[in-house]
Amino acid sequence: MITVILYGFKEEYFSGRIQVNYQDYKTKAMNRKTAIVTGAAKGIGYAVAKKLAADNFEVYAVDTDEESGRKIHSETIRFVNADICAEKDVEEIFRMIAPIDVLVNNAGIVRDNMIWNMPVNDFDAVMNVNLKGTWLMCRAAAINFKRQGSGRIVNIASRAWLGNRGQSNYSASKAGIVGLTRVLALELGKYNVTVNAVAPGLIDTPLTRALKPEVLEKLIEAQPTRTMGQPEDVANLVAFLASETTRFITGQTIYVDGGKSIGAGL
Ligand SMILES: NC(=O)c1ccc[n+]([C@@H]2O[C@H](COP(=O)([O-])OP(=O)(O)OC[C@H]3O[C@@H](n4cnc5c(N)ncnc54)[C@H](O)[C@@H]3O)[C@@H](O)[C@H]2O)c1
Repeated sequence: MITVILYGFKEEYFSGRIQVNYQDYKTKAMNRKTAIVTGAAKGIGYAVAKKLAADNFEVYAVDTDEESGRKIHSETIRFVNADICAEKDVEEIFRMIAPIDVLVNNAGIVRDNMIWNMPVNDFDAVMNVNLKGTWLMCRAAAINFKRQGSGRIVNIASRAWLGNRGQSNYSASKAGIVGLTRVLALELGKYNVTVNAVAPGLIDTPLTRALKPEVLEKLIEAQPTRTMGQPEDVANLVAFLASETTRFITGQTIYVDGGKSIGAGL
């Protein structure tokens, strides 16, 4: 089931099969483009949604976190309560919102543990959201973008795809995103669609604030810049890749990590 909150309808919900022509409720001006950002109820995704809205996009913020989603819902950022791992939800999202111009796949989770302590459920959960969910959204967008002959996909990977102890599931899922990005750049290039990945390092979000303070301190110490990044640091690059100026950049993975990917460490 998918639940959508439409701006202008106070706290009303339209559940299950949408009863109205969603397009009728789009306040989009003729010069306004449309973007879907997944995992946008908080953290990096919300920063991306805000930046794209400031760049005159009508933004649809897809997330499973209803409480946070309701708080960020506004005239320019519309919350869509949906699960990117559910094929039916993904179909419904595109049925309601397409045509779109930009897809940002940002939703992601962690379930860290050394491999010898990692339950298979934690492997499956991370793969399901980070890789399968991203793939489902990419497939739906690719069908639309191929038809319309334009589009931008920006996938949020992670510097961790290079390898992080305790993240065999997460690193593998993000490596999968890098591979997916490269293949889609090849498949969609001739349709005027670019597909790139952004690989953040340590960014100050609810996800990293959940780390133990002593772990976080060590991670910051290992940064060449000795600081964490802010969600806006990632959002600025995503917005650049989502813009029309980047038509000749595709298949790339670009780091926003304070230099951590260089490998110097401590
Ligand atoms: N914070 C960091 O340091 C960091 C570093 C590298 C990469 N990343 C990546 O950036 C992205 C955002 O991370 P964040 O730190 O903002 O995390 P976050 O936990 O603050 O936000 C992630 C959002 O994704 C949503 N989400 C989870 N599963 C979903 C699903 N199935 N369908 C829809 N939404 C779902 C969550 O509800 C949450 O709102 C993730 O892909 C993460 O792996 C983060």
